[in-house]
Amino acid sequence: MNSYIVQPAKTLRGEISVPGDKSISHRSIMLGSIARGETTVRGFLRGEDNISTLNAFRAMGVRVEDDGEILRIRGAGLHGLSEPADVIDCGNSGTSIRLITGLLAGQGFFSVLTGDQYLRKRPMGRVIEPLGRMGATIFGRAGGDKAPLAIVGSELAGISYVSKVASAQVKSALMLAGLYADGATTVTEPHLSRDHSERMFRHFGADVEAAGTTVTVRGGQELDGRDIVVPGDISSAAFFIVAALIVPGAELLIRGVGVNPTRTGIIDILTAMGGAIELLDRREVSGEPVADLLVRASRLKGVEIGGDVVPRAIDEFPVICVAAALAEGKTVLRDARELRVKETDRIAAMADNLRRAGVQVVETEDGMEISGTEKLQGCMAESFGDHRIAMSMLVAGLAARDSVTVSDIACIATSFPTFVPLFEQVAER
Ligand code: S3P
Repeated sequence: MNSYIVQPAKTLRGEISVPGDKSISHRSIMLGSIARGETTVRGFLRGEDNISTLNAFRAMGVRVEDDGEILRIRGAGLHGLSEPADVIDCGNSGTSIRLITGLLAGQGFFSVLTGDQYLRKRPMGRVIEPLGRMGATIFGRAGGDKAPLAIVGSELAGISYVSKVASAQVKSALMLAGLYADGATTVTEPHLSRDHSERMFRHFGADVEAAGTTVTVRGGQELDGRDIVVPGDISSAAFFIVAALIVPGAELLIRGVGVNPTRTGIIDILTAMGGAIELLDRREVSGEPVADLLVRASRLKGVEIGGDVVPRAIDEFPVICVAAALAEGKTVLRDARELRVKETDRIAAMADNLRRAGVQVVETEDGMEISGTEKLQGCMAESFGDHRIAMSMLVAGLAARDSVTVSDIACIATSFPTFVPLFEQVAER
């Protein structure tokens, strides 16, 4: 178990770029694999989660070459995947297992998907139940809710599904299944979740109707291979944004960050807290908005967070909690029950870690209340095997009185293998 000791930083300066977006990287492999012709991907995130997706499609006969810069996917066509010879291991990746389950439900073959000890505890019923209504035959542990999942490819029919959770993984799993279904598949969610699937389906030439929080895909549509440039992941930039806000005198330019409005909740929340974040040189790349972010150290104040912004910042709450811990006054987070079923229970994990750093935290069922403090205490923090908890507590360490030790940071490689060197590069001591 490798732990890491962070020393407080005097300040933080520099110009950086962060690795490619994880959600977009997953989808580039999935759609590239079932498209006709070649897809090239630049800026692909070579984190463990995305490698799990890549290996899954290689196991289904898709040829992918990687020269370290450009990924070339030889698309197999809508019906060109072949039965995997072994169980597909999705590692820690919820996006891999849930989206691939949707994609495999309508294939003409049998497949089994599993994952690591954390993924095998996460709920899969949210995709299996609606896929079942489409005609899918999927078995899993715990009455069909937990991996390993066994999928017997079946004939599917489109449905209209109203999801209880705002989840891009649920929506995308049904959209992918919908490509193989008879008729149209419609998904409505309570709040809009990230829309990378909608954008990428269109980028590959598919027809997708989206209105408000409802999306519709017609079955049988062929996709055509495309060139994709993956923008920097705002969820990775988030750690540096918060670091630059909380370390005195800091100024950081983060280049080429994806600023899709379904992902910029963190910017809205931190700006409302008084954070100085400027979006420069806005542009569009492969159907996704991109900008450079200039972030300066700021005096933060507590805010109330809930409603529509929650799915737009869903992966950023661990590090938003660190900002809240150093803000003046109380921050109240509500409507974030989903955080309890992420890579770990992120409400419990952050409450525990922030208390170790001397912060007053009240846990609620769907969120938490954090009373800000001037300075964090040095402490022993735990990653709980969750990449975003580990990175958040490393960021906290920059603004603590004494060193912060974070246990088991190997999990950071799931989404951001180059995090530690980049983090040490910008911290001045
Ligand atoms: C993702 C969707 C979100 C997010 C995850 C990536 C995606 O999960 O937390 O990191 O790529 O679709 P949910 O759909 O469970 O909210």
